[in-house]
Order: sequence, then structure tokens, then C-alpha cells
Amino acid sequence: MTAKESESPKGLRVGVVGMSGIGNTHAAAHKADSLAQLVAVCDVVKDKADAAAKTHGVKAYYSLKEMLAHEELDVVDVTTGGYENGSWHFEPAMEALAAGKHVLCEKPLSNDIGEAREMVRYAQERKLYLGCNLNHYFTPTAERAKKYMDEGQVGELVYCLFKVGFNGGEETYRHNKSPRFNQPYAHMKAFLTHPFSVMRHFCGDITHVQSFSTKPGFRKNKGDLLVSVNSVHVQFADGTVGYLLSHRGDAMWGLGGWWSCEVAGSKGTFCIENCIEKLTYWPAVKPGQSFGLGQGPTPEVLDTGIKDFGATFPRRIHAFLDDVTRGVPLEHLRSSGRDALATLEYIWAVIDSYENGGEMVRPNPLPTLHGDPRVERI
Ligand SMILES: NC(=O)c1ccc[n+]([C@@H]2O[C@H](COP(=O)([O-])OP(=O)(O)OC[C@H]3O[C@@H](n4cnc5c(N)ncnc54)[C@H](O)[C@@H]3O)[C@@H](O)[C@H]2O)c1
Repeated sequence: MTAKESESPKGLRVGVVGMSGIGNTHAAAHKADSLAQLVAVCDVVKDKADAAAKTHGVKAYYSLKEMLAHEELDVVDVTTGGYENGSWHFEPAMEALAAGKHVLCEKPLSNDIGEAREMVRYAQERKLYLGCNLNHYFTPTAERAKKYMDEGQVGELVYCLFKVGFNGGEETYRHNKSPRFNQPYAHMKAFLTHPFSVMRHFCGDITHVQSFSTKPGFRKNKGDLLVSVNSVHVQFADGTVGYLLSHRGDAMWGLGGWWSCEVAGSKGTFCIENCIEKLTYWPAVKPGQSFGLGQGPTPEVLDTGIKDFGATFPRRIHAFLDDVTRGVPLEHLRSSGRDALATLEYIWAVIDSYENGGEMVRPNPLPTLHGDPRVERI
């Protein structure tokens, strides 16, 4: 790169809204990415905006309106939180879309399904990218696993098993009394979007949901409203069966760590452990091979050596910047608003099933993909 090139402004002009922990993580990722130019940060709390502006060396704003009025942005990155970690996403995301900006939004798209549906509809109407930070499958482990699938080494899907949540137990439990989180469905709405996004990434749309949810005695005794343990049985559109178990620090996770996803098929099975850390692939037994009970061909192991889950953020953010920079067809955006809406439709089905004693529920269908007629077949 010549000196002149290194001085020239680079990449998409990005403004980040909501400068708490996650907003600062996103800002740092944009700053370090060759496809982005972080130009401003915004928070309604002045101190937070000022502190972030100082850290990242950009201008601070105290409202999105002000930021949009003074900066030429390509992308608005919404990292606000709110009730059930999602009630403050709708307003800034819609404001940015109305101003003609592409939007990357933290998960969950919203804590209200009606708002989430409207966000996806409006982005489609405006013909703008709406992406969501479904970062759990932007990993070397998930990429290698997908390659096994694409190369036919998993074969016809048989089952998908997912265990995910937080490590903990009775001794470290603290009742989170904040009205933002002391809600029955806060864990489901704030968190299940991640495992559902990964299950859908590997196995496709979910068509049937049945859930049993509960909470341990130590939560009940404190009057904690959170329904923290979620046991969900699903079926995918192709008939594959799946199971998701999630809890919010109510126990220690056993085999597979805090995050494990096992996908089994007629040609082989893989399991990802601790999200970004480790992938194991077990090829199915081939004709002529013979093994004792429970034995099989030697598995292949990918140990990435990455222990820090935080490494998923820059990877996912780079993919968004890359899709927008390349101008991929709207419906090809990775981890799109529609993908995030899918996970919320499943979560609403989980809640519906739980409220009806474990009844089987069909999630609301997603908006149809019409595609852009100007785009050649890909
Ligand atoms: N993808 C992941 O792995 C992951 C991990 C943790 C959290 N999250 C998500 O990240 C989001 C942010 O989490 P957090 O813990 O940093 O949240 P937080 O509640 O601590 O911070 C949100 C910030 O947004 C600001 N804000 C709210 N509304 C605003 C508005 N309209 N304009 C400007 N500023 C506004 C608040 O003042 C606050 O500083 C949540 O939605 C959460 O679900 C994602």
C-alpha cells in the first residue's frame, strides 16, 4: 500500500449507537476492519458517548438524529439493549433505515415479535441491508462443519442436539431484580436466538416446536420471575428431529462445555464444543469395517486454540461489512434480519408451547423471499 493509499479514507462509514460493553466491542471491531471506517459513536448517556469517543478517537453524539444529521454514514450499527436485551433496538434501527442507512443490529432483533416483523418488512421495502449479530456461527469450527456437510460427509441429517447457556449453580446465583431482566421470558428472548440461529444454519427451518420449561427451587424461593431452564424439542422442515437445552447459570454444564452442538447424519456426525474452540467429526462406519460395540473409525479433531468467545464479534462484523461492500443480493446477506426473525418466531413458539403445557406449536411462517429480478441466477 502506498503512503497516499494509507492516508485515504477506507471502507464503509460506520456509526455505532449504544456505547456500553457490546457497543465498544463493535466499535473496536469496525476500527480494526479494513472494510470499515468508524466515524462516530452515539449514546443517550453523555458520559458513555464521551468515553467511547475518547477510546476510539471519533466524534460523540447524544442522539441518533444528531448523528444522522451531521455524518455521512453508510452503516448504523445498533448495539443498544433494553428490556429482555432487545426493547431499544426497534427505534434506532427504524430511524436509521428511514434515513437510508444499512443496519447491523444486535440480537435479539427485538423483544417484541411485532416490532421484529416490522423491522424486516421495512428494510425489505427500503431495499436496505438489515443484518443481525448472530455471531455464534461465524467461527472456524462452524465453517469446517459446514464444509463437511457441503462435501457430503454428514449425509442425510438424522438429529441435532444443542446444549447451551451459562455455567453456575446455587452458590453463585444472584437474583437479577432489574425490571429489564426480571421477566418470565427474558432468557428465552435474550438468548435462545443464538442456539436457534446455529440449528437453523445447519439444519434449515424449524416447523414444529414443543417446550417444557422450569426453574430451580433456589430461584423460586427468591420470587425470581425468570423461567430459566428451557427444554425444547423441534422438528425441521426436512423431517430431521432436534433438541435444545438451555439454562441461565443454574448448573454447571457437563460434556461439551457451555456450548455444544452435535449434528448427526447418515455419513458422519460432528460436534462443536465451546462454540469457537473445538470441532470433532466422526465418519460413519464403512462397508467392510468392523468395530466393537460403541466403537468406530478414528474421529478428526479441529482444535482452534481459541478460548475467547469475543473473537466471534470481529468475524461476524467483517462478514456483514464484506456483504455490504460487495453488494450481495439483499436475500443473500449472511445472518440477515429475516434469519434473526426466524429465531424469534421459534422463541414465540417456545413461549406458546410452555404456556399451553407443552403443546406442539407450528412457528409463524417467515415472509416469502421474492428476490431481485435484476440479479442473475446464482
Ligand atoms: N451477540 C452477542 O454475543 C451478545 C453478547 C452480549 C450482549 N449482546 C447484545 O448486545 C446488546 C447491548 O448489550 P449491552 O450489555 O452492551 O447493553 P446495555 O444495556 O449495557 O447498553 C446499552 C446502551 O445503549 C444506550 N442506548 C439505549 N437506547 C439508546 C438510543 N436510542 N440511542 C442511543 N443510545 C441508546 C444506553 O444508554 C446504554 O449505554 C443487547 O441487545 C444484548 O442482547 C449480544
